[in-house]
Amino acid sequence: MSEADTKMPKTILDLNDLMYYGKKVLMRVDFNVSINNDGLIGEDYRIRMTIPTIEYLTKRGAKMILMSHLGRPTSAQDSRYSLAPVARRLSEIMSVNKVRFAPDCVGPYVEKEIDEMNMGDTLLLENLRFHKEEEKNDADFAKKLASFADIYVNDAFSTSHRKHSSIYGTPKQFDIKVAGLNLKKEIEYLSMMKDNPPKPFTLVIGGVKITDKIGALENLFPKADNLLVGGATAYTFLKAYGVKTGNSPIDHEHLSWVSKALSKYSDKITLPTDHIVSSSQQVSGSASLIKGDIPDGMVGFDIGIETSQLYSSQISAKRSGTIFWNGPMGLFEIGLFSNGTINIAKSMALSYWRGSRTLIGGGDTLEAIKRAGVSEGEVSHVSTGGGASLRFLAGNQMPGIEVLDKN
Ligand code: 3PG
Repeated sequence: MSEADTKMPKTILDLNDLMYYGKKVLMRVDFNVSINNDGLIGEDYRIRMTIPTIEYLTKRGAKMILMSHLGRPTSAQDSRYSLAPVARRLSEIMSVNKVRFAPDCVGPYVEKEIDEMNMGDTLLLENLRFHKEEEKNDADFAKKLASFADIYVNDAFSTSHRKHSSIYGTPKQFDIKVAGLNLKKEIEYLSMMKDNPPKPFTLVIGGVKITDKIGALENLFPKADNLLVGGATAYTFLKAYGVKTGNSPIDHEHLSWVSKALSKYSDKITLPTDHIVSSSQQVSGSASLIKGDIPDGMVGFDIGIETSQLYSSQISAKRSGTIFWNGPMGLFEIGLFSNGTINIAKSMALSYWRGSRTLIGGGDTLEAIKRAGVSEGEVSHVSTGGGASLRFLAGNQMPGIEVLDKN
């Protein structure tokens, strides 16, 4: 397979300011955020990360038409998947503009709303996935969306791995199709890590699923100087290494891949030496600290104190290099099992203050740093994309990036 063309595309900064004056700009964003039954938005990081692009363009006289998906609705107009709460949230956090909301993403009503837009206005269209054509990259649907505007912008890194109409078919219809500021930042940071990470390069891997990570790990393992493994991923590594893991979750499908990685990179890989274990995952259940083998009937839910201290010192002692962290060290949502993850988050922040480039990826990890009292500003880059960042790092196709204009 040829290497995917994910080099930096043209961005909104490459066009003359006058290009935007009075023009309609159709921008793909990823407002796929969690919304509770009362319409309240949980983590709004993905929304906030699009504000610099929206403000850059509206200040230059553009009329901004935003489009996004939300969740995976199976029936059209399922109100749980409406983007209306996102429009309200966006209005609250935009400094000047109010955001109007169109209750569909195509059709005569939307066309009328767009015709009535003034320079500097922002309009958010309803969930693209209310039309099944979106996920099929349907050509007619793509053209309908494209007919709304003069310029196309992609600021939705986290969904750029999908070959859907709004991501791929629609931009193909435009003479001008460029990246927004969030997409630019994602490409810059992730490319640096994939191609040329400043040394020493430490990789901290946790979480549960190995499948999603294998492509990225195959690219990153040879470049890393230091690999710290935690979370449920660590039990598969320990099992492959011959340590007893009790009833901890094991990814049997990938045991042989893990064994090979262990023998190839044995000088770089560090595995947990102690664990916080419990017989159940009830919050009220008891937990104990054990060293070495995990007995039958017990499940590991977090790295132990010795491991946590070792990992923390390895992270914060590495000056001026790169540290990439993907996946929590344990079941951090439960207080008993959160120490390992919290310590890693704090060490990442310390390392950032000492001059390292620190990157984190995946929704879980963002939530984890917040639990540790570490702010987004204490990390060089928090990726908006879980699946997308791993695919990018694996060198897989990213249709939403490849389709954009090149410099
Ligand atoms: C994500 O949250 O990973 C993106 O918004 C993509 O969503 P999807 O996996 O439903 O396509």
